[in-house]
Amino acid sequence: MCFIKLLLEGRHYPGLMKIGTLDLENPLVLAPMAGITELPFRRLAKEAGCALVVSEMVSANGLVHRARKTEALLMSHPAERPLAVQIFGSDPVVMKGAASIVESTGADLLDINLGCSVRKIVRQGAGVALMRDPERLEAILKAVRGALTLPFTVKMRTGWEPSGVQALRTARLAESCGVDAVVVHPRTAVQGFGGEADWSVIAKVKEALSIPVIGNGDILGPDDVVRMQRRTGCDGVMIGRAAIGNPWIFTQALDRLADRPIGIPDLPGRLEIVLRYIRYSVDHFGEERAVRMMRSRVGWFTKGLPNSSRLRESLTRLQTGEEVLNVVRDYFEQPCHASVS
Ligand SMILES: Cc1cc2nc3c(=O)[nH]c(=O)nc-3n(C[C@H](O)[C@H](O)[C@H](O)COP(=O)(O)O)c2cc1C
Repeated sequence: MCFIKLLLEGRHYPGLMKIGTLDLENPLVLAPMAGITELPFRRLAKEAGCALVVSEMVSANGLVHRARKTEALLMSHPAERPLAVQIFGSDPVVMKGAASIVESTGADLLDINLGCSVRKIVRQGAGVALMRDPERLEAILKAVRGALTLPFTVKMRTGWEPSGVQALRTARLAESCGVDAVVVHPRTAVQGFGGEADWSVIAKVKEALSIPVIGNGDILGPDDVVRMQRRTGCDGVMIGRAAIGNPWIFTQALDRLADRPIGIPDLPGRLEIVLRYIRYSVDHFGEERAVRMMRSRVGWFTKGLPNSSRLRESLTRLQTGEEVLNVVRDYFEQPCHASVS
């Protein structure tokens, strides 16, 4: 019965989403988050069931100038595929060049950032600045579309004022330039990440377009995924901050979408995920850098557990990945955690 109901409702069945030529297993997407959605994090999200992961934003300028640190952001692992790479920039020629580089590295989808409201980016005319410069945006979209065979998306905000007029105009422009899907994070440039996301803007964009629309903003738990789809009609749902230290939100959302009971990871389950994150980080970043990073990042996964500040403190004294694994293992096996699971 549930299966038939989900099938009839189409988008509520976790098996449906297509962006251009890319078939996705379900409608869930990990949001790009600079400094967070690096390769190890994306692998966890993918393993938890999300259909598409997106890189951190990558500078188009850095790519065409072959900056080593920028190129490193394109590194990928077969286990995380399909992978979307997001680029930002404001020069059509540079964006076209960067898009070709992304395609040549084997990414599965290219996304253009039309949402970043950080002053440094906006001053360059990139990110959300492009939402008030339709001529430049059109030139970028046409140049990139012409150079690219990959599926192609844009990720936008509401725009510069709350009505959603710029979001609609940008979305229509994107569709007319051959973009395959749009992501809408319905906050204004001025809002940053504060206040509430206005999901009605997602609904307006969905209403206006024929290509898929992915809604984003304020998904705090699995129920919100269904709520957003019902309220806006969006085809996909992108999850950002709620996945930090909590990749199982994707598994829970899939359960919710399929009308199954929602599983809650017990302590051994959580431990297993943190250990994988540490291992993937050592593999990807090298031991020294990964051990340093784990001082703050293990805390993402232990939020709310007893004595987590003591754990953070002990992590500052460690030198090797093996030591980090052992300390984290000991921490999770403390008797005071028995009541938590
Ligand atoms: C730390 C951080 C970094 C972010 N970096 C990016 C980015 O590189 N590109 C982008 O399009 N959005 C970026 N975002 C915005 C998220 O992709 C997302 O739109 C926003 O967090 C709203 O979704 P949420 O409520 O599910 O977190 C970032 C957000 C955060 C919190």
